[in-house]
Amino acid sequence: MKPSKLISRLIATAVSAQKNAYCPYSRYPVGAAILTESGRIFAGCNVENASYGLSLCAERVAIFNAVTRRQLGIRAVCVVANSAKPCGACRQVMCEFSTRETELYLVDLNPRTRRQKVRRTYVHKMLPDAFDPLSSGLLPAHPQNLIKARSSLSVQHRTGKARRKR
Ligand code: THU
Repeated sequence: MKPSKLISRLIATAVSAQKNAYCPYSRYPVGAAILTESGRIFAGCNVENASYGLSLCAERVAIFNAVTRRQLGIRAVCVVANSAKPCGACRQVMCEFSTRETELYLVDLNPRTRRQKVRRTYVHKMLPDAFDPLSSGLLPAHPQNLIKARSSLSVQHRTGKARRKR
């Protein structure tokens, strides 16, 4: 699929996810979508809770949704809100799975007119000098390159070899 078509789909997915936001406390619906390195798109919306601090932002829901499908490399992120701007926590989580090239589409969607204003930037630009898994030395490779190591580990786990080895 052409990149422009993928980005249109990414934006449409985030716009649609915003409609499912569970935000009875803030009444501030946010939608997000992640385009992974493999070309798949994952959606998320904010999910609030009566115990306010347990609420989760749309961006993190979308990223955790992708990680659940073992998609650890993010090519692009889209956030849709009345004034779309990822919070600091989400910027940090996005950086974990992003490269310098990972794009960020911020879509301001006017709830009344449904008019969209799209701004394109980069995840890393939103969190300069981020604490990251590579330069900190906490990981030997970018998270997306750990997929192989992890999948061979889970095969070992399924066959019971991993347990016998220890
Ligand atoms: N929210 C997001 O979903 N993403 C952000 O990056 C900013 C804030 C949500 C959290 C809460 O449910 C509501 O917006 C108001 O803060």
